[in-house]
Amino acid sequence: MFIILLVLETLMSYVSACLVSVGIKDIHSPMDCESAANWLATNSSDYQDPNWVREYTVPCPRCKLRIIENQDCSLKMKCLPPCSYDFCWRCRGEWTEHGGETGLDLYTCTHDEYEETVFGNMAEAAADRYRDCHEKWMSNESLMQKAKAKLQQLHTDVIPGLSNNQLATVQQLEFIAEAWSQIMECRRVLKWSYAYEYYLREDEVEKLAFLKLKQDNAEIPLQKLYNYAEDQLNTLLDSDGPSENFNKFRSDLTDSTSITRNHYELLVRDLEDGLSNVVPASTSQRAHNEDDASGSSCIHDD
Ligand SMILES: *[C@@H]1O[C@H](CO)[C@@H](O)[C@H](O)[C@H]1NC(C)=O
Ligand SMILES: *[C@@H]1O[C@H](CO)[C@@H](O)[C@H](O)[C@H]1NC(C)=O
Repeated sequence: MFIILLVLETLMSYVSACLVSVGIKDIHSPMDCESAANWLATNSSDYQDPNWVREYTVPCPRCKLRIIENQDCSLKMKCLPPCSYDFCWRCRGEWTEHGGETGLDLYTCTHDEYEETVFGNMAEAAADRYRDCHEKWMSNESLMQKAKAKLQQLHTDVIPGLSNNQLATVQQLEFIAEAWSQIMECRRVLKWSYAYEYYLREDEVEKLAFLKLKQDNAEIPLQKLYNYAEDQLNTLLDSDGPSENFNKFRSDLTDSTSITRNHYELLVRDLEDGLSNVVPASTSQRAHNEDDASGSSCIHDD
C-alpha cells in the first residue's frame, strides 16, 4: 500500500510539474513534455502560411524541422530533441565551427550566408505538412470532446434510463462508461500522434510510413468499439423492456473495450520508444544481403 502511494505520488508530481511548466490541460503521451509544449505554442495560422514560414523559421540542417528565429537575433540555433542539433542561423553550418574556440560571439558569423535557392519550395512543403498534421489533430480533438460530453450524458441520463429498462443496476452498467472512457483515450492518443508525426525527422521515411500505417490501423478497433458503444447501445435504449440481446451486448462491448485498450497501450509504448523497432531501409538492405532473407519489408512490427 505504502509503495503504491509512493508511486502514485511520484507520478502525480511528474504530471503536475509538466502541467505547470507548459500549461497543458490534458496528458500528452506519447509526446514528450518539451515537444508537446512546443506544439501547443505554435501559432497555427502562422505555421500554415508559407510566407511566414520562409521569413521567420529556418530548417534544421540535420533533420529539416523548421526552427523559429531567436527573439534576440543571436545566430546560435538549437533543434528540438531528439535531434538537438546546434547550428548557425546565417550560414547553416554546425555551431561548433563558430563557437568559443574561434573566439566568435553569438552574433557573428564569418562564413558565407546560406542562400535558400535549391530548396525554394521547402517552406511551402513545411507549411503543408504542418497543416495536414494540425487538421487531423483538431478533428481528433473535437471527437475527443464529443466522447467526453457523451460520457457525462451517460452518467446523467443514459445509464439510469437503461438501468430501468434492462433491469440492471447502475454499477452493472459501468462497462458502458468504461467503453466511452476508452474512446476518449483513443482520440487523445490519435490526436497527439499527429503532433508526434510533425516532429518526426523528415529523413526518417520508414518511421513516417510506419506511423501512418499505425494511425490507420488504430482506427479499426476504435470503429468497432464505437459501433457497439453507440449504435448497439441506441438499439437497446430503443427497446421497450429487457432485451434478450443485453448479455451479448455486454460481452461484446467489454471485449471490444479491452482489445482496443491493449491496441492503444501498445501504440503509445511504440511511439514513446521512438519507433525504435523500425529499421531504416539502408540497414535492412544490409541485413537482407547478409542473410538473404526474402521480402522487402523494412518494418519490424510485433
Ligand atoms: C497568430 O498569428 C496571426 C497572424 O500572424 C496573428 O494575427 C494572431 O494574433 C496570432 N495568434 C496568437 C494567439 O498569437
Ligand atoms: C483522426 O485520426 C484518424 C486516425 O489516425 C484519422 O484518420 C482522421 O483523419 C482523424 N480525424 C477524424 C475526424 O477522424
